[in-house]
Amino acid sequence: MNRTLSVPGIAYGGDYNPEQWPEEVWAEDVRLMREAGVNMVSVGIFSWALLEPAEGVYDFSRMDRILDLLHENGIAADLATPTAAPPAWFFRAHPQALPVDHDGRTLSYGSRQTFCPSSPAYRQAALRIARALAERYADHPAVVMWHVHNEYGCHNAACYCDTSAQAFRSWLRARYGDDLAALNDAWGTTFWSQWYYDWDEILPPRATGAVPNPTHQLDWRRFCSDELLSLCRAERDVLREAAPEIPATTNFMVMYNFDALDYWRWAPELDIVSNDHYLRSTDPESEIDVALSGDLVRSLAGGRPWLLMEHSTGAVNWQPVNRAKGPGELRRNALAHVAHGADGIAYFQWRAAKAGAEQWHSAMLPHTGTDSRIWQDVVRLGADLKALAEVRGSTRTAEVAVVWDWNARWALELPSQPSEEVRYLDLVRAWYEPLWRSGVAVDFVRPDADLSSYRLVLAPSLYLVDDAGAANLTGFAARGGTLAVGFHSGAVDENCHVRLGGYPGAFRQALGVRTDELFPLLPGESPGLSGEVPAGATATLWSERLRLEGAEAIASYTSGVLAGVPAVTRHTHGAGTAWYLATRPDPTTLAGLLDRMRTEAGVEPVRTTPEGVEAVLRRGADADYLFLINHTDQPAEVPVSAEATELLTGKPVPGSVAVPSGEVAVVRELRGGS
Ligand code: GLA
Repeated sequence: MNRTLSVPGIAYGGDYNPEQWPEEVWAEDVRLMREAGVNMVSVGIFSWALLEPAEGVYDFSRMDRILDLLHENGIAADLATPTAAPPAWFFRAHPQALPVDHDGRTLSYGSRQTFCPSSPAYRQAALRIARALAERYADHPAVVMWHVHNEYGCHNAACYCDTSAQAFRSWLRARYGDDLAALNDAWGTTFWSQWYYDWDEILPPRATGAVPNPTHQLDWRRFCSDELLSLCRAERDVLREAAPEIPATTNFMVMYNFDALDYWRWAPELDIVSNDHYLRSTDPESEIDVALSGDLVRSLAGGRPWLLMEHSTGAVNWQPVNRAKGPGELRRNALAHVAHGADGIAYFQWRAAKAGAEQWHSAMLPHTGTDSRIWQDVVRLGADLKALAEVRGSTRTAEVAVVWDWNARWALELPSQPSEEVRYLDLVRAWYEPLWRSGVAVDFVRPDADLSSYRLVLAPSLYLVDDAGAANLTGFAARGGTLAVGFHSGAVDENCHVRLGGYPGAFRQALGVRTDELFPLLPGESPGLSGEVPAGATATLWSERLRLEGAEAIASYTSGVLAGVPAVTRHTHGAGTAWYLATRPDPTTLAGLLDRMRTEAGVEPVRTTPEGVEAVLRRGADADYLFLINHTDQPAEVPVSAEATELLTGKPVPGSVAVPSGEVAVVRELRGGS
């Protein structure tokens, strides 16, 4: 069944928590929502304690009134199962459902998401409230989507209790075909006398005296992601049973500080992919993070539009210092998410809380009320999104793919690696940045994805790769594509076993190189590079004693212990080309290399724009939608087709469009127009 969102145009709204306010405030809420053009809100996310005051006893009266009020005002509801915040009575009745942390401490209730994902009592209670809600509201005209749980794993991605240990063992039995010898082999348990003779000897990787086994830790991360996924699936099935036509989503967290879930495994389970994204206060160019996460979420959604389920109008409250947004930033952020494929924009939350743990988090309606810049921006954005209604459903096409893999990320960041300084997201972002700056469209792919529609495939960091993934990537080059691989890739297989015979194991042959020893660089250490790179080029973070086995050297070290050794190589592999970046070049050098790769591969930017003006294209049935986001303090002028229209102003922009500093233009260019 094709379950799609029935809200017209671009969805706009936020988390709505009216239970935090007296009912007389609700009328003002819906009046202001209408004023701002809000057409969908997420309700009930943390309402469990009010909906089910005692086990099996329900009070739906408040939710009835909220949904009726929304419907009367033409506002749709994304109705949440409240299972991220079990009530106090649940934990008093089921104390064994409380999670145990890595150090063996049992956590207490009194916040949210403090439950053990493997607890049978929790599962039963969660499915009971989900079923009760679904049965009551399946036919309510306001309800257009189910919001399953909230941010699975945000606070309880792993529980180390005995119940979890039991669940982990069952998961391992399934993975290893009930064969303990296979597990011992995969985990390399002859090392440090870790051999297991009985499944019951296996524990979660709890705090221990020295470094735990890497494969044990990696399987644990896989298990934790799957365990939460099984809860999500179970809730989804209950909802589908009661309301087969209502689409279900759960809000992902594809952002810098969360890596607990393998969303490649999650996304196919949902009718609509949605994501929460927040800016990092210390990131001077958070617009790049917005673009990267948007491209990743769109890719998770299989190229289909997705929903931005949460972001903030201003500051959050959970970073050391919480930066407010600058002039126009709210609008640029939101429209950038739309540019990268979002068909809905929502915030945490509608009305800023007066009490509770998030009282200092921004909202659409701030503490100050409507006499505020945030409110003006919120109203303006509502009008913008209305003007972009026709963009809904349009897609993006890219000729460049960046390989993204949670298993590789987890494995790379396990303890006892050659360098703790190597961080997965930093590497991916470093390669993504120059493409973003040049206006090149990018998809993210799994290592085993169908790559036939791409010209250039980049694997900035792929420490772990299985044989099939490696063969898929090198096969892409052999068939004529351009592949670029970052250092320390292909090093281990899916069990974290080192690929022997020289680095970078799985890619050595395709890259035409062999490394016999790794030389991670200390912070501050940056040997020079020379060759086909700009004068003054340097390397940081990593180096390798590499020798050429068919490849040509593009750049070599000019100083340090590896002076004269190649650092960047290029190899003809079959009908294609395979590049190896055995270090992290300085940003200008890296940008130059990526520019060369994409030019040689025949990849063009979607549009050439002045520096700092982001250009993103969405393709509709009959028209292209060119999003131009000016992140600079200078006005810009961008050439467009002769019959173009700027949608936010509704004005024709024949041949060229002006994008004032800090502003956004969305230009409709009819397909086949001049
Ligand atoms: C998360 C949660 C929300 C809220 C916001 C605050 O994304 O889903 O409930 O706590 O963070 O930024």
